[in-house]
Amino acid sequence: MRNSTSHFVYPLLLSLLVFALLGGCGSGTSDSQPEPEQLATGRQIYDANCAACHGIKGEGQPNWRVPVNGVYPAPPHDSSGHTWHHPDSVLLEVIAKGGSLPNSTMPAYGDILTEEERIDVLEYIKTFWGQRERESQARGSR
Ligand code: HEC
Repeated sequence: MRNSTSHFVYPLLLSLLVFALLGGCGSGTSDSQPEPEQLATGRQIYDANCAACHGIKGEGQPNWRVPVNGVYPAPPHDSSGHTWHHPDSVLLEVIAKGGSLPNSTMPAYGDILTEEERIDVLEYIKTFWGQRERESQARGSR
């Protein structure tokens, strides 16, 4: 009797455990989503300050990997670029302090935009990414 009960109970407990784990993973990817107002502000900042170089949809400048007279064109911020390879901390630092490449034209926005505005514009840049890039970058930012 004892044995037959455990034959029934253990698989049941195991499947409950698996469901709990799967449920846990699912909620782990539901990172706090930006508010619509934050994205609207981020878009205004992006269109006014960044789009001229990085493109209105984050497409960057043509042949961005090839320097012209020692100056790199602006890279894309969409899925084709490498912005999404970097965690938030690194991207916010570039936005605040400017680019680090030789002869970089990337301005420092530390004195031009508030910290909140720099975060808003980064959240807007993330809307250029696909789901795969968003999830990968969110994992790297934790
Ligand atoms: C005058 C052109 C120009 C403007 C305007 C500009 N950028 Fe850039 N940006 C660049 C260039 C060129 C680079 C790459 C060179 C470097 O990092 O030194 C870059 C790099 C970056 C990077 C790093 C990307 C990576 O993959 O490492 C981020 C993030 C970024 N810009 C965000 C912004 C934001 C946000 C704005 C507007 C608030 C902005 N940029 C405005 C030219 C520009």
